[in-house]
Amino acid sequence: MNKNAAALSDQAKELRRIVEQYRQESRRTGNLRTVTILSGKGGVGKSNLSVNLACALAEKGKKIVLLDADLGLANIDMLCGVTAKYNLAHLIDGSKALDEVLIELERNVWILPGGSGIKELADLDEARLVALIESLSVLEDRADILLIDTGAGIHRGVLTFAVAADTAVLITTPEPTSIRDAYGVLKVLKKSTEGGGKKDIAFVVNMASSEGEGLEVANRLRMAASQFLNLSINYVGCILKDHFVEQAVRIRKPFYQLYPDSPAAECIRNLVHGLFGVPAERSVNSKPSRGLKAFFFRLTRGRFAER
Ligand SMILES: Nc1ncnc2c1ncn2[C@@H]1O[C@H](COP(=O)(O)OP(=O)(O)OP(=O)(O)O)[C@@H](O)[C@H]1O
Ligand SMILES: [Mg+2]
Repeated sequence: MNKNAAALSDQAKELRRIVEQYRQESRRTGNLRTVTILSGKGGVGKSNLSVNLACALAEKGKKIVLLDADLGLANIDMLCGVTAKYNLAHLIDGSKALDEVLIELERNVWILPGGSGIKELADLDEARLVALIESLSVLEDRADILLIDTGAGIHRGVLTFAVAADTAVLITTPEPTSIRDAYGVLKVLKKSTEGGGKKDIAFVVNMASSEGEGLEVANRLRMAASQFLNLSINYVGCILKDHFVEQAVRIRKPFYQLYPDSPAAECIRNLVHGLFGVPAERSVNSKPSRGLKAFFFRLTRGRFAER
């Protein structure tokens, strides 16, 4: 072997060692909790839930990073009245540092714009994945929760985020088409977690006319999931239909900030309790590891983006 070939072989060995080390570490339990918000039908309130949940959690002293993982149009920055200059793609290509990409929305809430980087995640080789996780690893100390807002639909991108996260929060409105599509998500989620998986699936009804209507929708979906899919989902509450939400969307500020006494804000406070106040149930036969590294390894192992 000539000198160059030997040096290359050494580098490859070193790289394999680093990747293996990360794999080992990813099996350890991290502290950061990952939560993916998803729906079957579009426009049902995912981005509003993500942003306002983040504000409510921050009020409770939690530190939140909000990842906008919509493969289409980015919407968190639209809702918050901020403009993202950089996104995950800049972190992946190494042209920007994490602090240049993160946008501070308020104390304890940062937005991590996904942009074209979301799609790139699918094609990362292990070395670049390790580099990305390295640059994100400070989040492990900085944040308690990584909240992921996804785009609409049951495509693989959304699903893999849901499967990789510690908790998937499925959201529907009382509209029959939205409920049907939520059931569709459950069906696919069930399939994609078969054989290796857990799933904490929490469930929220948005734009309910009353708490009773929320419960009624929840019961229907819960029964169908249990009877036909043998899946237990955890109803964590509803968000009432509230004109303050639409008003805040027009002003491009979170309604939780603008109208903290609105009915919708009150519902968000209840959801914080339902989602984070009690330890989430875990299925008996699986113990997924928490934390950023574990999350990203699960995510990319799922080869998640549509190609
Ligand atoms: N609780 C609510 N009360 C009244 N209107 C609401 C409520 N929640 C959401 N909306 C309305 O629904 C619209 C869509 O909400 P949002 O953008 O959060 O949905 P989404 O699921 O993220 O959509 P997409 O699938 O396009 O990403 C908002 O602009 C708002 O006008
Ligand atoms: Mg959205």
